[in-house]
Amino acid sequence: MEFKAYLAQKIAAALSEAFQASVDGIPAFLETPPNPEMGDFAFPCFRLSKTLRMAPPKIAEGLQAHIAPDGVIERVECVSGYLNFFLHKSGYAQSIVERVLEQGARYGASDEGQGRVICIDYSSINIAKRFHIGHLSTTMIGNALYKIYEHLGYKCVGINHLGDWGTQFGKMIAAYLKWGSREEIERDGVNALTALYVRFHKEAEKDPALEDEGRLWFKKIEDGDPEALRIFNKFKEITLKDAERVYDMLGVKFDSYAGESFYNDKMQPVIDELREKGLLKESQGAYVVDLEDEGMPPCLILKKDGATLYATRDLAAAFYRKKTYDFYKDLYVVAYQQDLHFRQWFKVVEKMGYDWSKDLEHVAFGMVSYEGRALSTREGYVVYLDELLQRAVEKARQIIEEKSPNLENKDKVARQVGIGAVVFFDLFNNRIKDIDFRWERVLNFDGETGPYVQYTHARCCSVLTKAGELSASPDYAALDNAAAQEVVRSLERFPEVVREACQRNEPSLVTRFTVELASNFNRYYYENRILTEDAAASAARVKLTAATASCLKTALSLIGVEAPEKM
Ligand code: ARG
Repeated sequence: MEFKAYLAQKIAAALSEAFQASVDGIPAFLETPPNPEMGDFAFPCFRLSKTLRMAPPKIAEGLQAHIAPDGVIERVECVSGYLNFFLHKSGYAQSIVERVLEQGARYGASDEGQGRVICIDYSSINIAKRFHIGHLSTTMIGNALYKIYEHLGYKCVGINHLGDWGTQFGKMIAAYLKWGSREEIERDGVNALTALYVRFHKEAEKDPALEDEGRLWFKKIEDGDPEALRIFNKFKEITLKDAERVYDMLGVKFDSYAGESFYNDKMQPVIDELREKGLLKESQGAYVVDLEDEGMPPCLILKKDGATLYATRDLAAAFYRKKTYDFYKDLYVVAYQQDLHFRQWFKVVEKMGYDWSKDLEHVAFGMVSYEGRALSTREGYVVYLDELLQRAVEKARQIIEEKSPNLENKDKVARQVGIGAVVFFDLFNNRIKDIDFRWERVLNFDGETGPYVQYTHARCCSVLTKAGELSASPDYAALDNAAAQEVVRSLERFPEVVREACQRNEPSLVTRFTVELASNFNRYYYENRILTEDAAASAARVKLTAATASCLKTALSLIGVEAPEKM
């Protein structure tokens, strides 16, 4: 049963009896009071005071007189303009717990998305660069949004918009042909590619003619020269092979790897259309879309030499996605530094007259630093993601060795905990906030961390194993106490949390929810014995434990964190 719907119905009836009035959208007005002494739900009467031309406390009293306690409602109180509802605790607990258990992994799911398509552009790594922690947030936020939208019935298309276009690739081919070898790049992977690039720049300082060679090879890539493409595709293959290892560790997948170069032959129609619509302006030999009236610098479309730009490719990609997927939304999970870039070209789409420009969204996130220091490739302060994850797994392994030396599958659990800890940490704060990665915070078993939540889940599982099959029918009066009710309230909130995380493209709401549910459960667990002589009461407490485990697991899965049953 939906409590809000039920209460809304009662309020509507009371409104008409007391004031001969009716109001739309009552369920949405119902709030969860900040603390349980104020009831399970509160109805703010000041929302009606304009319509009814009456002071909120008067309205509350009028309504109260017409709402009698029943099987669901225990009592109703008026407090400073609010109508506070207290529900029968055991009925409330029973209905929520049973709903969670019945729906299992589908709890919090819905079909409100109706199969509408969400394109999510995330991770979008650059060819010939090793995967470093600067790309962790885009990868994990994108992955979480993918799962959250799917949970709500949308159809997602995960796109890795590879950075596989640019003059640097011409330089790399030149360097490869001079100093590189196939064996070497196959053996050393992306590191060998980076080394070639660094060497090119060193040598080019002495011999500027190299730059021309680089340009030439880039031109050849653009013109589709078979040799240039063969080498370039090899670079791509090697980068992706390395990245694939990281994606496997993180459990991340994509539906498309159409990157920047994919749009080589898809930009001309867009450029033509811009010209036809009179939007393309010459500016010192280059072509731009003027955005002065929007208070932004012009969006560069073509360089002086006719070369296209990052924005040109993003425009072509958006048109391609609209045509291919007919998206309902097209999300770009990209660092906030690129904010202007997205605002500019979104505006260009709008100026072209496409109303779906409103469906393009930049899901921005903050910077990551490591142990208090900003990362910088130039200063050689880089943290590679595969090394970071490996280290997390090793550290988790050590902790497990200390805490549970007899655990089976230690390696597997260490992977789940180590990697889960990193992902959890990355998704804990509002995405727009900068993150400072610190080991002592990531792997702290007592803090607001992945291991803490995973540990709570495992604790629930172990209680369930100990309980075994219970035959007694549960007596939910055993869940009348405040601590149990807090757990129930958290459980009840989950579907709302998922919906809000989706609306705001904010996975951290789900992450924080897991901490809330876990700590409410732990408080309950310390105050109450789950298994006692009283079989019926035990059964109810076991059900609460099972519902908590199930909901924690579902919530963690939405943010891409695994939930081991033992740790
Ligand atoms: N490759 C870019 C980077 O690493 C991100 C690309 C984001 N996606 C896009 N469609 N612009 O900064």
